[in-house]
Amino acid sequence: MALDPAFLDELRARTPIAPVIGRRTKLVRSGKHWKACCPFHGEKTPSFYVYDDHYHCFGCQAHGDVITFVMQSEGRSFPEAVEELATAAGMDMPKPDPVQRERAEQARTLGDVLEAVQQSWQRRLHEPEGREGLAYLRGRGLSDDTITAFGLGWSGAGRGELVAEMARLDITPAMLRDAGVMRADENGAPQRELFFNRVTFPIRDRRGRLVSFGGRILGDGQPKYLNGPETAIFSKRRVLFGLDRAREGVRGSGAGAELLVVEGYMDVIALHQAGFHGAVAPLGTALTTEQLEALWLVAPAPVLCFDGDGAGQRAAVKAAETALPLLNVERTLRFCTLPEGEDPDSLVRRHGSAAMATMIEGARPMGQVLFGLMSEGVRDPGPEQRAALRRRLVAVAALIPDKTLAAEYRSTLLDSFFQTFRRDGRGGAKRVPVATAPVAPMAADLQRQCILSAILLEQPSVLDAVQDAYCSLALPPDLAALREELLDLYDRNGELPDADELASRLAEAGLADVRQRVDATRGRRGQAADADLFDTDPVQEWWHFYGLLDVERFAAELRADTERLCAGTPDEAQWNSLRTRLLALDALRRGGDEEEE
Ligand code: UTP
Ligand code: MN
Repeated sequence: MALDPAFLDELRARTPIAPVIGRRTKLVRSGKHWKACCPFHGEKTPSFYVYDDHYHCFGCQAHGDVITFVMQSEGRSFPEAVEELATAAGMDMPKPDPVQRERAEQARTLGDVLEAVQQSWQRRLHEPEGREGLAYLRGRGLSDDTITAFGLGWSGAGRGELVAEMARLDITPAMLRDAGVMRADENGAPQRELFFNRVTFPIRDRRGRLVSFGGRILGDGQPKYLNGPETAIFSKRRVLFGLDRAREGVRGSGAGAELLVVEGYMDVIALHQAGFHGAVAPLGTALTTEQLEALWLVAPAPVLCFDGDGAGQRAAVKAAETALPLLNVERTLRFCTLPEGEDPDSLVRRHGSAAMATMIEGARPMGQVLFGLMSEGVRDPGPEQRAALRRRLVAVAALIPDKTLAAEYRSTLLDSFFQTFRRDGRGGAKRVPVATAPVAPMAADLQRQCILSAILLEQPSVLDAVQDAYCSLALPPDLAALREELLDLYDRNGELPDADELASRLAEAGLADVRQRVDATRGRRGQAADADLFDTDPVQEWWHFYGLLDVERFAAELRADTERLCAGTPDEAQWNSLRTRLLALDALRRGGDEEEE
């Protein structure tokens, strides 16, 4: 329903926002305005501000006007909120203009048409012609109560029975076409019945109004499922099958009251029958933004259930990517990975409700699964792959609009990255368990790590040659934060800015302290014995200190790289890089020998 903007302005003007909010949370004066503990996220000190015509929470970024407030705090749709406020303000809702009225009437008629079809199909399931369909549904473990509760039906054989029966109710083929149960020919004329020889699933919107049908073939034919086409009242990207029931179903606690998103009609129905009343499914497509919004009106952290196979994991990645730009502290997702080859329907049938409940209880928050999803299939990545993955992780976190939350995700993702893709002693990258968090380095190593960082600050162009090894270092938190910022700048621009520019960027990022500490180590190094070894090449100098951290490891990495380069067709740059490192190793060994002498 598109409402006249002038009406909405008037409504806002006549509805001061503070009293409406004041009914939900205690307001206290703050200068000209009000503040309160945010009604949308738990907090003890107020960061929720109410101004003349809007509110803003500096904690969770909730923001809006009086209409939004009613929507967010009471879970109302826009028209519902408007109607509620208009009633309170003593304003009459505007009469819809003729076009809108016609659309509303048509919608009512389409709804009536669908209800008539539904009654016919539901009746047929229990008549002789529906015998096979009924047997099919029972054979899939559905009880008669469930079959009735979901209004499952039988479409008939598609020989014009439906058209004839509807004609007796003054419902024309054109109306059946508009309602989405008859196909149109190329001129748009109703041609033949869309559903035949199928069991039918009425699809209802969140308020329980019938908007379309799905139909399943008995047994193995193709296509397995048919869904009605888009119509004036049915938009596939907005509807979730089962949401009307799930809105009621999620009142309560435990796995049975979780809002669950599964893949198919039969999953939803089987789950309801098994006591999981919050199950819903999209209609054979990836979750859309609109569907996520609809889910969050019902619960703040719905559980997405995916099959453990490749397709399921890809679907999970897709859902996560759709959700990220919409996340805030009040709206997130959880993920539940089912055993490979099982869907919720087969799981509850084969292993019982308890098995499903266990899976749901094990659902993991978005922040925890995201790294696994994004790095799925990455094994032994080379430098390019590693850089690409790192870039992808940074980009993914940046999708989250809430700055604080985005920063959290970013550091969690990069921590997992550095811990997972560390280099092993043979020069290849390998996965190491995430649990091996870096331990505090010994003083000498810390000094070297500082110097490695300092060289990069002084000669930013060095990063290009050493980024892979730099990534592999297990650094203490402050140096790791510095590294994260450097890599981020590098990823965004393809290179680092010069040293001065870099210093100011780091200051902006709140890293001025670390930078100064790091620079200080560099100063002392100036007097160290190795100083004159590299007056020419900062890259070689970097490798020197890298090698000092663990000479044997460095040597092993170089052996492996030499073998790799000899086996492949390396380019000039790769040879040069290897040569520089070999020189550094050589100098290191000679330096070591001299010290011992
Ligand atoms: P699945 O192929 O995963 O099947 O489709 P399922 O739900 O496990 O079905 P059963 O158990 O064999 O009956 C998942 C969903 O994808 C859509 C439907 O919405 C289905 O519920 N789909 C599937 C289609 O729209 N068309 C198809 O041909 C297949
Ligand atoms: Mn299935």
